[in-house]
Amino acid sequence: MSTSKNFADKVVLITGSSGGIGAVTAVEFARYGAQVVITGRNADNLSEVAKQCAAVSPKGLKPLEVLADVSKDVDCKRLIDSTISAFKRLDILVNNAGKGVFSSITDPSVLDKYGEVMDTNLRSVVYLTHLSVEHLEKTKGNIINISSVAGLKPFGRAFLYCMSKCALDMFTKCLALELGPKGIRVNVINPAAVRTNFLQVVGLTKEQSEARYSEMDGKYPVGRVGESIDIANAILFLASDEASFVTGINFVSDGGALNAPL
Ligand SMILES: NC(=O)c1ccc[n+]([C@@H]2O[C@H](COP(=O)([O-])OP(=O)(O)OC[C@H]3O[C@@H](n4cnc5c(N)ncnc54)[C@H](OP(=O)(O)O)[C@@H]3O)[C@@H](O)[C@H]2O)c1
Repeated sequence: MSTSKNFADKVVLITGSSGGIGAVTAVEFARYGAQVVITGRNADNLSEVAKQCAAVSPKGLKPLEVLADVSKDVDCKRLIDSTISAFKRLDILVNNAGKGVFSSITDPSVLDKYGEVMDTNLRSVVYLTHLSVEHLEKTKGNIINISSVAGLKPFGRAFLYCMSKCALDMFTKCLALELGPKGIRVNVINPAAVRTNFLQVVGLTKEQSEARYSEMDGKYPVGRVGESIDIANAILFLASDEASFVTGINFVSDGGALNAPL
C-alpha cells in the first residue's frame, strides 16, 4: 500500500456521504483502512453506503452512520459529538454536503433560497469546522472542503450557489492561515460537472440530467464530465501525508472545463 493511500487508524468524517461524491469518497477511505463516519438525511441510502464501506475495509470496519441535516446546528453538534464519543478522535473532516439552486434576483422566494443554500453549503462548514478544530489539533489532521468551479466563475441563474462556493473558497484560504500553526491543513476542491444526483436535486428529471451530462461530455477538453471517483481521488491525495506541504489551495478537478470556451 503506498503511503498516500494508507489511512489505517485514521477517523474520517465525510458529510453528504449518503450519495454521490461523498459516498464514493467514504468507500475509498474505507478501502484504504480508515474508520469512516458517514452522514446524510436519507437513512436507507446511508445504510447502503455503510455496507459498501464495510465490504472493502481491510479489517471489515463498520462505518458510524449518523442521520443528520447539516443545515441544522443541533445536528452538526450531534454529528461531531457522536464521532468523538465513538472513536475519541478525528483526523480528517471532508465538508462535502451541498446543494445547487437556480434563482433569478427577481424571484419572490430569493431570500428563502438564499437561506437554504447558505445554511447547507456554508454555515454548516463554518460550524462543523468550529466544532472540529480542538480534535484536529490533537491529531494534526486536515480539512477538505468541496466547492465547485462555480466558486471561480459565474453561471447564469446560479448566483446563490456561486456565492456560497466562492465564500467557501475564501473561508478555506483564511482558515489555512489560522489553523496552520495548530498543525491543521485546510484545502478546497473545485470540481466541474460530476455525474451524480446533483442536477436532479436542483429540479431536473433523470432524463434531463443525463442529457445535460452527455451534452457536456463533448464540450469538456478531456471528452467527458467527471465521475465521483475523480473527486474522491483528489480528496484522498489532499488528505494524505504526501500533501503535507499543501494548504489553502484551490485544487481544480474539472477535465479542463474552467479554461475551455464552453
Ligand atoms: N455533481 C456536480 O456536478 C458537482 C460539481 C461541483 C461541485 N459539486 C459539489 O459536490 C458536493 C457533493 O455533491 P454531489 O454531486 O455528490 O451531489 P448529490 O449526489 O446530490 O449528493 C449530495 C449529498 O449531500 C447530502 N446533503 C444534501 N443536503 C444535505 C443536508 N442539508 N444535510 C445533510 N446532508 C445533505 C445528500 O444526502 P441526503 O439527501 O441523504 O441528505 C447527499 O449525500 C456538493 O457540495 C456539490 O456542491 C458537485
